[in-house]
Amino acid sequence: MTNILRIDASARQARSLTRQMSDLFLKSWAETGADMDIIQRDVGSHPPEAISEGWIAAAFTPQEQLSPEQISLLKTSDTFIEELERANIILISTPMYNYGMPAALKAWVDQVVRVGKTFTFDLARGDRPLEPIFSGKTLVVLTASGEFGFGPGEMNDGAGHLVPHLRTVSKYLGTNEMHHIGIEYQEFGDHRFDTSKAAAAQQVERLAMQLAKERRGL
Ligand SMILES: Cc1cc2nc3c(=O)[nH]c(=O)nc-3n(C[C@H](O)[C@H](O)[C@H](O)COP(=O)(O)O)c2cc1C
Repeated sequence: MTNILRIDASARQARSLTRQMSDLFLKSWAETGADMDIIQRDVGSHPPEAISEGWIAAAFTPQEQLSPEQISLLKTSDTFIEELERANIILISTPMYNYGMPAALKAWVDQVVRVGKTFTFDLARGDRPLEPIFSGKTLVVLTASGEFGFGPGEMNDGAGHLVPHLRTVSKYLGTNEMHHIGIEYQEFGDHRFDTSKAAAAQQVERLAMQLAKERRGL
């Protein structure tokens, strides 16, 4: 059985390209006949609360010393971390907003990357004191952007912070493997957009089949 944690970050519903890609991934997986259990966390429709001073203080308080208020402040984080822990595959569908990730997705990241829960901190490790707690997960990132050319050596190289940010953070989600498929040119709506959309759909289908096959072989 593969547990897939599906996180959708688009503020749009029916017209969302990234949600369509995520749907397609799960449909293609299902068609292989491989078992899956889906946990859905729709942060685009229900943005998690931003962390606060009280949240940070609670996160750094030993479990047995937490006050009832602090336990309550960490409830969302605890739920999200439980969902993450169960996941074999983390399927994130996200638009590019203002050249990075939507605030709702960043709020989810801030809720799950937590000391003692998803990473440990030890200065005895020298200049890299952080270590992830989870491991062995696969991250699939499905993106859409209005503009294009954010990859290495491309026209807008250096301007796109969505995928690089997720790649950096992915370590603390316990992922050892990351796949990215993106639709570009959405704002142009021309043949380049159509080509990009069609190519992405093909890649999504192929990736779902490949990962489902790998999981069945385990
Ligand atoms: C608030 C907002 C900000 C956006 N910022 C960018 C941007 O910085 N760069 C870009 O290429 N596209 C940007 N776009 C375009 C979206 O990435 C694009 O419409 C994408 O298809 C949205 O994903 P969705 O179809 O899943 O909702 C933005 C769209 C919105 C609504």
